[in-house]
Amino acid sequence: MHDMMASINKTDPEIYSLIRKERERLSNGIELIPSENVVSIAVLQAMGSVFTNKYSEGYPHKRYYGGNEFVDSMEDIAIERAKKLFGAEHVNVQPYSGSPANQAVFFALLKLGDTFMGLDLNAGGHLTHGSTVNFSGRQYNCIAYNVDKETELLDYDEIRKQAKEVKPKLIISGLTAYPRKIDFKAFQEICDEVNAYHMSDIAHIAGLCATGVHQNPVPFADVATTTTHKTLRGPRGGMIMCKIEDKFDKNGKKNLAQKIDSAIFPGLQGGPHDHVNAAKAVAFGEALKPGYKDYCRQIVKNAKALAGTLMDKGLELVAGGTDNHLMVIKLVNKGLTGKGKEVQNALDEAGITVNKNTIPYEPGSPFNPSGLRLGTPAVTTRGFKESEMKVIGESIAKIIDGYTDKKTIENVKKDILELCRQFPLYPDFTVLE
Ligand SMILES: Cc1ncc(COP(=O)(O)O)c(C=O)c1O
Repeated sequence: MHDMMASINKTDPEIYSLIRKERERLSNGIELIPSENVVSIAVLQAMGSVFTNKYSEGYPHKRYYGGNEFVDSMEDIAIERAKKLFGAEHVNVQPYSGSPANQAVFFALLKLGDTFMGLDLNAGGHLTHGSTVNFSGRQYNCIAYNVDKETELLDYDEIRKQAKEVKPKLIISGLTAYPRKIDFKAFQEICDEVNAYHMSDIAHIAGLCATGVHQNPVPFADVATTTTHKTLRGPRGGMIMCKIEDKFDKNGKKNLAQKIDSAIFPGLQGGPHDHVNAAKAVAFGEALKPGYKDYCRQIVKNAKALAGTLMDKGLELVAGGTDNHLMVIKLVNKGLTGKGKEVQNALDEAGITVNKNTIPYEPGSPFNPSGLRLGTPAVTTRGFKESEMKVIGESIAKIIDGYTDKKTIENVKKDILELCRQFPLYPDFTVLE
């Protein structure tokens, strides 16, 4: 197989050695960050292709620069595949990432200072859903909705009641750390009742939505945004899907799709990242194949197996478990309030990568939170099944109970390394050998 790294090895040994070390880190550890995945060689190759050289401001067949005939065909294919995958009326594949995609929707549909509702950050919302340190909370008026204090679940009656009082112009549904199913239809109904746009941010669960493993909001939500690098298993990037007609502006100069497109370009971005968009097309092609649905089902099975093991070991999970690809461990009942960072570091040392996370109604702080967020997309790609999830769950429980004990960390590290050796990463790829 062609070794793509043959020349970087000689021309830039400094960066070459860091890429090599990163690959070793990935190979010798368990990746449980729910927003990460392992892309295919084809996706890597498309990202490393000559499309990175091109400028193509504008949209297919309406560009500002010459020489775009192949970029046009590639972007057309990416759009068509995404439409088919999600049942979308209109797709824009140009957002550089998830945050710019969300920013573009705000830019297209709201005026500065307008009121919107998004899920509270501690309860599992994203920074771009209204955090005060983000553009969304600084330039717009966010009134957050929360999960129920007892059940830690979304309470749609409460959200409806709040929306009637707040009268938002837009409501965001979607998650970064909410482990249960989301009833996107209920959100759409609430939005229709209070005359708000519904923006569904499916960045985390896009793959599950595309395959019907989770309810898919794209066919009915006004707008849906996503990243392409999480469960969708594509390159780092973003995408916006929407209805063509603007329900509040049926006779306006621009329809909804045109408003979204012009918010991305020329509103917020310049030239699209054509190499990344080529890789998006490749990933969408992979996701349209039958095996991808089995992969998504396995993600959820693995998450349930991991959650089950953790709970058997006496750990408490936010909302009592998981229906999707992620779960959040509550460290509070272990007497570890605010200790998420320390436990994350101990797990890191043992070769298990997770991220510290806030829990609903967080008693600690965002820098010293009381939760750990784990997810199964990357390990599922690697080939892990329920039995491996049990080993990982038991290892995590051991570290939480002994996070300051060097011997415990060392022993777990050995077990993890043994497990990793059985599941080599990119076994057929000669890159960096
Ligand atoms: C729900 C959600 N939306 C948006 C984003 C932002 O994506 P990016 O990091 O690509 O800007 C994330 C990232 O984790 C996310 O979880």
